[in-house]
Amino acid sequence: MVDYKCVVKTLPKAFLGLGNEIPGKRSGKVRDWYSMPGGTRLMVTTDRISAFDRVLGAVPWKGQVLNQLSAYWNEATRDIVANHLISLPDPNVAIVRETRPLPVEVIIRGYITGVTSTSLWRRYSEGDRNIYGYDFPEGLEKNRPLPSPIITPTTKAEAGMHDERLTCAEVTSGGFVEPSTWKKVMEIALALFDRGRRMSEKAGVILVDTKYEFGLDDSGNIVLIDEIHTPDSSRFWKLDSYESRLAKGQEPEIFDKEFVRMKYVESGYRGEGVIPALPESVWAEASQLYQRAYEMVTGRLFEAGSYPVGERILENLESIGVKI
Ligand SMILES: Nc1ncnc2c1ncn2[C@@H]1O[C@H](COP(=O)(O)OP(=O)(O)OP(=O)(O)O)[C@@H](O)[C@H]1O
Ligand SMILES: [Mg+2]
Repeated sequence: MVDYKCVVKTLPKAFLGLGNEIPGKRSGKVRDWYSMPGGTRLMVTTDRISAFDRVLGAVPWKGQVLNQLSAYWNEATRDIVANHLISLPDPNVAIVRETRPLPVEVIIRGYITGVTSTSLWRRYSEGDRNIYGYDFPEGLEKNRPLPSPIITPTTKAEAGMHDERLTCAEVTSGGFVEPSTWKKVMEIALALFDRGRRMSEKAGVILVDTKYEFGLDDSGNIVLIDEIHTPDSSRFWKLDSYESRLAKGQEPEIFDKEFVRMKYVESGYRGEGVIPALPESVWAEASQLYQRAYEMVTGRLFEAGSYPVGERILENLESIGVKI
């Protein structure tokens, strides 16, 4: 893991993406990608961080953490479902199979938690007992496991739009996904989440909830795409402090993207208007948080890639003769 001082020094060099060195760039909020021959795609994971559906800043080594952590989980779940990963030519880059993404995000929740007005806990605490199309029993406690994990899909919004919640029934009745495919997707998502929870728990981490994306290949097979069990797509809580903090009425110790989102909320920002500047310490702490998440979850040391990232990527691609 990179020490605090070095992270602070690296803040101005955080990786926002390649320039126009490679033609044909397309961008999401966090990743840039380029179509390659043979139905493959070069995926560059940048240090950009998004919340409230906007890019808010950049966190050094975040892109590397997301890319390498996803690769770790793709490897660890290959027996459950085929995934898009082909190779990692650079710490921030993956070569993946291009698929036709399903137009839904598959969110799965193992705990009743959340602070926003639409979160499970808020709605439950306000008396709602039917949420996201599920019936909830009496007596659930905040930040405790649900009787069993639930799938709460959303639409996959176009850039600049917000995802809309769907019930599982609406995924098929609304024509988003064909019923037999959706049935398989739900089974796969539950199996992935179960694997993720068990492996994380052994590593001292609670996988609270997460989001999966799937695509279809040319033969119509389901393929896991995008990222899996990262601090951007999941909530992670620290296991060893979980019980003692709850006993004291405190929130669990988090190490995921929520850390930065909360800092914005504390500064009064809720996603509208001018984005306020947050102190350097927030970005540096966020970087260490992402690196720690990688180290805890994988049990591996984080081997920090060199900055500037863009130059390094171009060298690595050239050295293995990647043709774009
Ligand atoms: N193998 C794949 N085939 C096709 N599309 C893919 C594949 N893997 C990922 N994608 C898509 O590429 C995009 C990746 O960009 P990025 O992660 O920046 O998405 P975003 O949704 O805009 O941002 P955020 O993750 O903050 O919501 C996503 O739209 C994702 O669905
Ligand atoms: Mg994404």
